[in-house]
Amino acid sequence: MKIGIVGLGNMGSAMAHGLLENKIETYLFDRHEEKRDVFKKYENAHILLTDREVVEKSDAIIVAIKPYAYDEFLEKVKDIIDKQIIISITSSFDLKKLEEKLKGKKFLMALPNTPAKVMESMTGICPGKNIEEDELKEIEEVLSSFGKTKIVSEKDIKIFESSCGCMPAYVYMFIEAAADACVYYGMKRDMAYECVSQAVMGAAKMVNETKEHPGVLKDQVTTSGGTTIKGLKSLEESAFRASIIDAIESIMEN
Ligand SMILES: NC(=O)c1ccc[n+]([C@@H]2O[C@H](COP(=O)([O-])OP(=O)(O)OC[C@H]3O[C@@H](n4cnc5c(N)ncnc54)[C@H](OP(=O)(O)O)[C@@H]3O)[C@@H](O)[C@H]2O)c1
Repeated sequence: MKIGIVGLGNMGSAMAHGLLENKIETYLFDRHEEKRDVFKKYENAHILLTDREVVEKSDAIIVAIKPYAYDEFLEKVKDIIDKQIIISITSSFDLKKLEEKLKGKKFLMALPNTPAKVMESMTGICPGKNIEEDELKEIEEVLSSFGKTKIVSEKDIKIFESSCGCMPAYVYMFIEAAADACVYYGMKRDMAYECVSQAVMGAAKMVNETKEHPGVLKDQVTTSGGTTIKGLKSLEESAFRASIIDAIESIMEN
C-alpha cells in the first residue's frame, strides 16, 4: 500500500519517520520546503510539490494538518478521490464530517499520539463504513510502524482521545513533579529526569507485558510497613486516583 502524508508538522513528520524506517513507500507534501527536505535522505520517500499529487499517487492519505484546514484541503482534492482511503487524524474531523464531505468514498479516523515520534504511539483506528476488512488490516499494519494500534468503536473514540491522546501530557506533568522532588533533595536535574522517566517506562512495560492487574503489580512493590506504602498513603490523601479520573471526566463533559 502506498501511503501519502499531507502536512509534515509534529504528527505528520513523526508518522513519516516511522513509515520510512519500515521501508514503506511514502508520498509526502508540506507547503514548507524545509519540512519536506528533512525526508530527502530516505530512498523510499517521494517528495512531491502539491497536495493533489499526493492524493493522485497514494492508496491511503494521512491528512496531518490542523483541523481548521481540513475543509479547504478536502474541497481542493475531492474531484480526484476515487478508491483512495482518506485518513483523518483529528477527532475534530470525525466520521460524520468525513461522510458529509466525502459521501460514498473510503475514509477512516486514526488518532495517534505524540510518542509516534519514538515509534511508541497508541493509535486508535475507527473505520468508516466503506472500508473493507482487508483494507483495514493493511492500514493497521502500516500504522503499526510507529507504535501500537487498536480498533476503537465510534462511541469510544472520545474517551480514547481523552485518555490515550492526552496521556503524554499527564505523564509529563507526573515526571516533572517527581523530578522536582528529586531536585529538592539534591539530585541533579538531568539525572532526575532520566531516572524518573525510565522508572515510568518500566512500570508501563510491566503492565503491558506481564498482563498482571496494576493493583497486583503495586502490591508486589509494597512491603508491609515499608516506604512505598507511606508514599501510596500520601497519594491517596491527595486524591491522586480521583484527580486523574476527574481530569479525563472534565474533557468528556465538555
Ligand atoms: N499534536 C498531537 O498530540 C496530536 C495528536 C493526535 C492528532 N493530532 C492532529 O494532527 C494534526 C496535525 O497536528 P500538528 O500538531 O502536526 O500540526 P502542525 O505541526 O501545524 O503541522 C501541520 C503542517 O501542515 C502544513 N499544512 C497545512 N495545510 C496544508 C496543506 N493543504 N498542504 C500541505 N501542508 C499543509 C502546515 O503548514 P502551516 O503551518 O503553514 O499551516 C504545517 O507545516 C491536527 O489535526 C491535530 O489535531 C495531533
